[in-house]
Amino acid sequence: MGCMAFSHGYGKIPEEKYSIEAIRNAYDHGCTFFDTAEVYSPNLSGIGYNERIVGKALKDIRSHVVIATKLMLHGFSFGTVYQTIRNHLEGSLDRLQTDYVDVYYLHRMSNVPVEKVAEAMGRLIDDGLIRGWGLSQVDVDVIDRAQKVTPLSAVQNIYSMVERDSEAEIIPYCMDNHIGFVPFSPIASGLLSGKITPQTRFEKNDDVRNWVPQLSRSNIAGNQPIVEMLKSFAEKKDATPAQISLAWMLYKYPNVVPIPGSKNKERIIENLDASKVELTEEEFIALEKSLNGLKVYGHRGLGGF
Ligand SMILES: NC(=O)c1ccc[n+]([C@@H]2O[C@H](COP(=O)([O-])OP(=O)(O)OC[C@H]3O[C@@H](n4cnc5c(N)ncnc54)[C@H](OP(=O)(O)O)[C@@H]3O)[C@@H](O)[C@H]2O)c1
Repeated sequence: MGCMAFSHGYGKIPEEKYSIEAIRNAYDHGCTFFDTAEVYSPNLSGIGYNERIVGKALKDIRSHVVIATKLMLHGFSFGTVYQTIRNHLEGSLDRLQTDYVDVYYLHRMSNVPVEKVAEAMGRLIDDGLIRGWGLSQVDVDVIDRAQKVTPLSAVQNIYSMVERDSEAEIIPYCMDNHIGFVPFSPIASGLLSGKITPQTRFEKNDDVRNWVPQLSRSNIAGNQPIVEMLKSFAEKKDATPAQISLAWMLYKYPNVVPIPGSKNKERIIENLDASKVELTEEEFIALEKSLNGLKVYGHRGLGGF
């Protein structure tokens, strides 16, 4: 599951106690993969708010879960790329109350060549401080350059029924090279749940839905045929539209592990239960065909934040 919204990105943040309970409920429901980042803080105004919550929630079950976090690199201020990344990582380890991170991502490409980052990540694996590493919002050329230096564990890009750029080259490359592909915003920031209408007002403060391209008022209206198609599939499968959108990508690729985000305890469980929605080959083909026939309004792609 994605833990970002407990600290950033979707308006008002819940009480810490509620967020910790929500994470623990998810674990009790079978979730073992938790995604955070050093920058997830209200309005991106600080460092580590989200990691602290995730750390508190998972510290006594640490060995049973996989924790992924990310660093943002702005040049290298501590002498070498390795030392700079290690400094970021040590901060994350402290906040997460752990002595290793399972997947350590570079959150965005910076002016540091990816080969240098890959080399430093390889050393951190040798140090035993991270078990594997990943890249986020990258194209296949960057992935390939990195992979040649230190093989990647995961690539985390935007991917959903309405953001499919990674299908052309990136997911196949990851599949061929045994790299996990981790879709972020897999429910298109809520659009594919069917709960958002052109009348929905997003929050004024720290709410990414104010700029997610598919969620402008006119694009929400334009995307309604996709939502309606999902609703009709969901009804037939006794599932929800969000679950169908996740079941679709779980069926489509063996190496895809989506990280839906929610700050609502019930929806977190609903999203986890998408793994129980089994599509038949026929249903998948019908879904894919319907989707391919519908125009998507709004595109974020790999270039934007
Ligand atoms: N690598 C990156 O650059 C990057 C960027 C963005 C996000 N991420 C990661 O990816 C995770 C997921 O992405 P995301 O949160 O942006 O997008 P998302 O999972 O596509 O959607 C989150 C939004 O959808 C709503 N929602 C979720 N499940 C729902 C359901 N079953 N029914 C109705 N509404 C539902 C949530 O509202 P409620 O909270 O009200 O349920 C929230 O507004 C984040 O938590 C974060 O860990 C990574």
